[in-house]
Amino acid sequence: MVTVTLDRPSPQLIFAPEVQRLERHLFSRAPLYLGHTHPTPEGYLRVPPWAKDIYLSCAPGSEHVGVRSNVCLHWQADILEPQTESGFLPFAKSLLCKSHNAVYASDTGRLLNGQIFQQACEHHLPEIPVLRWNGFLFRDAQWEGLPGSFSLADELAVIDRETQGLITANGYTLAKTIVMEQAGNWALFMLNYLDLMHVAPAHPETLNQLCDCSMVKSFPALEFATERDIPGRWSSVQTVGAKASWGSGATADWDDLNNPQRGKAAFHLWGQMYKAIKGNPPVGSIWTTTFPQLMFEWYPGVIVASQVFPHASDPTRCWVYHDFYYDQEQPDRGLSGS
Ligand code: FES
Ligand SMILES: [Fe+2]
Repeated sequence: MVTVTLDRPSPQLIFAPEVQRLERHLFSRAPLYLGHTHPTPEGYLRVPPWAKDIYLSCAPGSEHVGVRSNVCLHWQADILEPQTESGFLPFAKSLLCKSHNAVYASDTGRLLNGQIFQQACEHHLPEIPVLRWNGFLFRDAQWEGLPGSFSLADELAVIDRETQGLITANGYTLAKTIVMEQAGNWALFMLNYLDLMHVAPAHPETLNQLCDCSMVKSFPALEFATERDIPGRWSSVQTVGAKASWGSGATADWDDLNNPQRGKAAFHLWGQMYKAIKGNPPVGSIWTTTFPQLMFEWYPGVIVASQVFPHASDPTRCWVYHDFYYDQEQPDRGLSGS
């Protein structure tokens, strides 16, 4: 067992087999964001790209999103294998496991052709217990025997209070999913996510137009002398102010003629549209993290649910998944930032 001190952690620790073993244990049972609870008229199935052993199902006309195991009861193959980055599939009443043709009812998970089994077994794909919060779906952490008491519901309740309820899927539409392999250890990604000093240099044309990082509120408060003693806190919230200049003022020289959907002009146009509909935003941005890998961020009209996972074989890389939600009152902008 490696003892990790907070005083001077060595970057070499990411290569230690003991650390990697701990990470595997941690992430195999980590709390997971799974998607949203919104029904759609035509229904859908979704295998979250970061949790391929789970599927979400919503039948046409149903208000309910069910969550079940996507692992075949026969020889444990994944049943649904979506080809799209977002993991969405058209709704189907029955699911076929292509390995040996087991068929399941998508809503109840019931095996419909049990004769392929030679011994008795539970003939339902198990339902996954989920937590529903502000229109989002989660699987709770399944840590046992780890020190400390973690409750995802408690952390989300605290985040809700500290963000004045702004992190919510209600009134938003999931617009796109991005899956990226990134250079850097997963923990570095989490640190960077909360690093306000990178906002201006790394995002000069976009976030730097919006975010006033001199007006920052952090929960827990940033008191570096005592940060190790924060009792029972597994999440963090950072809020920054909005620059009044975002979405107003001259833009003549801002247009990126080669790429009008991106960059400063696009970000400015977004500000104009947002303010025309909603007025001044209550804050510039919010970044929240929940241990070890969950992230929610809020920008005016946009919420991003993100998760980062260790790379299976290379600790200098990681996998990042983003679900982008857009406010339903905003026109479809087709814009993107960097
Ligand atoms: S593994 Fe699914 S039918 Fe055999
Ligand atoms: Fe960034």
